[in-house]
Amino acid sequence: MTDVQKTWTVPRLAAARTEGRKLVMLTCYDASFARVLDDNGCDLILIGDSLGMVVQGHASTLPVTVDDIVYHTTNVARGAKRALKIADFPFGSDGSPHEAHASAVRFIQAGASMVKLEGAGHKLDTIRYLVEREIPVCAHLGLTPQSVHRFGGFKVQGREDTAAVKLREDALAVADAGASLLVLEGVPAALATAITAASPIPTIGIGAGAGCNGQVLVLHDLLGLDTGHRRPKFVKDFLADGGSVAGAVRAFANAVQDGRFPAAEHSYS
Ligand code: KIV
Repeated sequence: MTDVQKTWTVPRLAAARTEGRKLVMLTCYDASFARVLDDNGCDLILIGDSLGMVVQGHASTLPVTVDDIVYHTTNVARGAKRALKIADFPFGSDGSPHEAHASAVRFIQAGASMVKLEGAGHKLDTIRYLVEREIPVCAHLGLTPQSVHRFGGFKVQGREDTAAVKLREDALAVADAGASLLVLEGVPAALATAITAASPIPTIGIGAGAGCNGQVLVLHDLLGLDTGHRRPKFVKDFLADGGSVAGAVRAFANAVQDGRFPAAEHSYS
C-alpha cells in the first residue's frame, strides 16, 4: 500500500510532522463531498461547527447543537474512509469535562477519531479528562469563532505583545494537557511560526500564515461559494484553479504540500 492510500491515524500526525510532510485538512459535512476529499489528498476532515454559518445560514457558529455534529459526522464517516475525522464541540457543549465526555463519546461512535475544542483556561481540565479516557483532542486557539461576543467580531488575535505571549503560553498548555493537534486561526504569521517551532504537537493554520505544519479551509470557501458572509483575506477559491470539485481539493492539497498556499496575501502581520 502506498503512503497516499494509508488510513490516517492519530500517531501518524506526529510522524508526518517529523518527516516534514504538511497536513491537508478541510471541513466537510456530508458523505458525497467527504468521498471526494478522501480521494483527492485531504488527510484530515473537520466536521466543524462552521456548518452553522455555511450549511444552516446562521450569522455565527453559536446555534449549532451536539445532535447537528453527530448527524453530520455520521454522514461524513460513510463517505470518507482514509481521512482522519475530527468532530467539533459546538458552543456550550464542552463547559465541563463530564458534559464534554458525554458528547465526545457520541462523536466517536458516529465515526470521528478525534474531537476539537476551542480555548485553553478551564478547557485544559477537559482536554486531560478526555485524553485519559482514550479520546484524542485537537485544540483550537486564536480567533476562536465561539468567542465572537467577547472579541466583538471575527478579529485577528495576538497582535499585541501581551496577547501574543498569552497565546504562546496557551499553545504549550494545551499540548501539555494532552492535545495531539492544534488549530491556529486568525493570528499573525510570525506568531504562528514561532508557536509552531515551540509546540510539541503539529499545528494547522487558517489565516495563520505558511509556517504551520498544515492548513485547513472551510470547504465552501475553497469552492468560492457565496455563503452570505464576509470573505476573510485568508480564503482562496481553488475551484477556479482546479476546474472541478475534485480538482479544487487536489489543487489545495498540492498547494499546501509544496508551500504555495497560503501566500503572503492570505496572511496577517
Ligand atoms: O468549525 C470550523 O470549521 C473550524 C475551522 C474554521 C477550523 O473550526
